[in-house]
Amino acid sequence: MAVVTIVSGSPSHTSKTNQVAEWVKGQLQQLGHTVHFIRLRDLPAEDLLYARSSSDPIAQTHQWIHQSKAVIVLSPVYKGSYTGILKAYLDLLPEKAFAGKLIVPIVTGGTIAHLLAIEYALKPIFSILGAREILHGVFILDWTLGHDSEGRLVLSDDLLSRMEEVIHSVS
Ligand SMILES: Cc1cc2nc3c(=O)[nH]c(=O)nc-3n(C[C@H](O)[C@H](O)[C@H](O)COP(=O)(O)O)c2cc1C
Repeated sequence: MAVVTIVSGSPSHTSKTNQVAEWVKGQLQQLGHTVHFIRLRDLPAEDLLYARSSSDPIAQTHQWIHQSKAVIVLSPVYKGSYTGILKAYLDLLPEKAFAGKLIVPIVTGGTIAHLLAIEYALKPIFSILGAREILHGVFILDWTLGHDSEGRLVLSDDLLSRMEEVIHSVS
């Protein structure tokens, strides 16, 4: 079984991206993987803003990434790119923090116009962080995400099969 870290980069407290991240976490745990979950909005804002890369909460997340075989990075599209909070966090990672790891991008967005944000925004920074194995990733249109009567996330059949592919590639 693998150790996997999920980095979820939405600042929103009702975040759809964080809901998807929780769903991914649940799937991986059901398969027996050890999952570390980094919800960036829960990290101390001042550590991110003032680049305190060795504060205890930030250093703990670096340890998790170091121990992981795979890192799944999620972000909503904001203004055509990934979020500012995700950039603030990635800036604090040690040099080549993603070397030797499988990196999986998952992005939610409101329009297909920014489908390529994974390619032009996320993949270059993953590469700078040393990643050489970056999955194609999944772009999710926010309005395709549904909920059941108990508020649990429901994925369309098409999205479910794309997400299952991602989950199994981590295994
Ligand atoms: C500040 C802001 C900027 C956004 N900019 C874009 C954009 O440029 N392109 C796009 O497709 N969607 C854009 N959206 C829509 C979000 O990407 C989409 O609703 C996403 O699922 C929100 O995720 P969240 O709930 O985790 O924040 C924007 C939303 C916000 C709040």
